[in-house]
Amino acid sequence: MARAGDDSKRRLTSNKKRKPSSASWLTRQLNDPYVKRAKADGYRSRAAYKLAELDEKFGLLKGVRRVVDLGIAPGGWSQVVRKRAPQAAIVGIDLLEVEPLDGVTIFQMDFMSDEAPRALRDALGGEPDLVLSDMAANTVGHKQTDHLRTMGLVEAGAWFAVENLAPGGAYVAKVLAGGTDNDLLSLLKQHFKTVKHAKPPASRKDSSEWYVIAQGFKGREGPE
Ligand SMILES: C[S@@+](CC[C@H](N)C(=O)[O-])C[C@H]1O[C@@H](n2cnc3c(N)ncnc32)[C@H](O)[C@@H]1O
Repeated sequence: MARAGDDSKRRLTSNKKRKPSSASWLTRQLNDPYVKRAKADGYRSRAAYKLAELDEKFGLLKGVRRVVDLGIAPGGWSQVVRKRAPQAAIVGIDLLEVEPLDGVTIFQMDFMSDEAPRALRDALGGEPDLVLSDMAANTVGHKQTDHLRTMGLVEAGAWFAVENLAPGGAYVAKVLAGGTDNDLLSLLKQHFKTVKHAKPPASRKDSSEWYVIAQGFKGREGPE
């Protein structure tokens, strides 16, 4: 099989039988400049650049002290937070096991479980000023079901943010095309000063993912 590392366009050369979808995924990975960059920069995922680009556009990591990373595996986003905000405490959660990351507390747990919010809160030792969610539900191939399941995660992340953020804090989450549905949008608009959508350049054009960026948490004393 071809190995990543030089600049020429690569095709899979082995005779091993693959499903067409997995073969095209592999070919795309091998030719993806962000995958190559991630390797060179020591990031665990190309997703790291999505957060880095969102940070450049929205100033998300400036001065943050406590960060929650929902759907942390394999850890690219937390690596970016560590690099750009070395002073910040970081707590992450994922269904999958994650290799330990220096300075990051990691739970292998379902964020939708009853225990998760408390575990994250206790480990953080104070109110987060940034809640990140790159969670995506495993797709079943039925578009509407996939959309609903992922939006369920985004919504749960939004409630966690609203119930825990420090005033002035931010919530950033991956959403699917069609953006944020009306209920979620009105929840975010009620509790945050600005709510925007963005598709960072590192997000593949053919992917339906977008990000919602809610900044300026108004606090729990009663929204304006
Ligand atoms: C796109 S990946 C995250 C990539 C990560 N931001 C990075 O930079 O390495 C999405 C993750 O969400 C996780 N996830 C999905 N549903 C979850 C849930 N209910 N609780 C915790 N993690 C979940 C998946 O296991 C997956 O690892």
